[in-house]
Amino acid sequence: MRRKIVAGNWKMNGSKDLAQTLVSDVRSQAASLDNGVEVVIIPPAIYVGDVVASAGDSLSVGVQNVGQWASGAYTGEVSADMAVDQGCLYALVGHSERRQLFGETDDAVAEKVDRIIGAGLHAVLCVGETLEEREAGKAEAVVASQVKAGLAKVAADDWQRVVVAYEPVWAIGTGKTATAQDAQTMHASIRGVLSEMGAPANEICLLYGGSVKADNAAALFAEPDIDGGLIGGASLIAEDFVSICRSVPAST
Ligand code: PGA
Repeated sequence: MRRKIVAGNWKMNGSKDLAQTLVSDVRSQAASLDNGVEVVIIPPAIYVGDVVASAGDSLSVGVQNVGQWASGAYTGEVSADMAVDQGCLYALVGHSERRQLFGETDDAVAEKVDRIIGAGLHAVLCVGETLEEREAGKAEAVVASQVKAGLAKVAADDWQRVVVAYEPVWAIGTGKTATAQDAQTMHASIRGVLSEMGAPANEICLLYGGSVKADNAAALFAEPDIDGGLIGGASLIAEDFVSICRSVPAST
């Protein structure tokens, strides 16, 4: 049975107060979820300690990025081992904002995945095409190449530490969502790529992200290859985020 995850990516939003109030609120409501979903909070690194302290046992915590090196003179970076040290279980890697705004390459993404898994975290590899690439009919090819490059260093024993999040760039923060059908088609294609890579594709959790809201989550999560979501804006409002977590169908 595949794991089901809803993860809230706060991006560069939030405060110490939000790390306490929102997380406590989500935690108390998440305790009554009976659909088997794992709820993950991914705040800015500086608030990870506060979120871990408020999260208790019912929520998991992650970081939005890690450095591609083990340690050393890399001012401003946070390592995968530090994330573990602070109580994280997950790390995002290759988010389109990191790729586009910070010039993160596929090679750097592959190094980071390697560090993340080596540290004992789960890597949530983000992939997705731009509008231009979709309109040119290249969406599946672009995503396939990001998946192959990003996961190139994963060892045969480590696939259970991999989650892939499909986030079409044109849907992030824009209010535009891929249709459930389009998202399902891409997820099935990603599973095919994973299988070609020798991964146990049917056991790997695939998330959808990009303007997921309380009112469109259920349709997306009802698709057979969509195992949950990576939520940006709507993860900053406890009620909306919990409602999205509740939209995951119970595992059969
Ligand atoms: P959004 O962001 O839900 O605000 O579109 C999703 C993401 O970038 O992870």
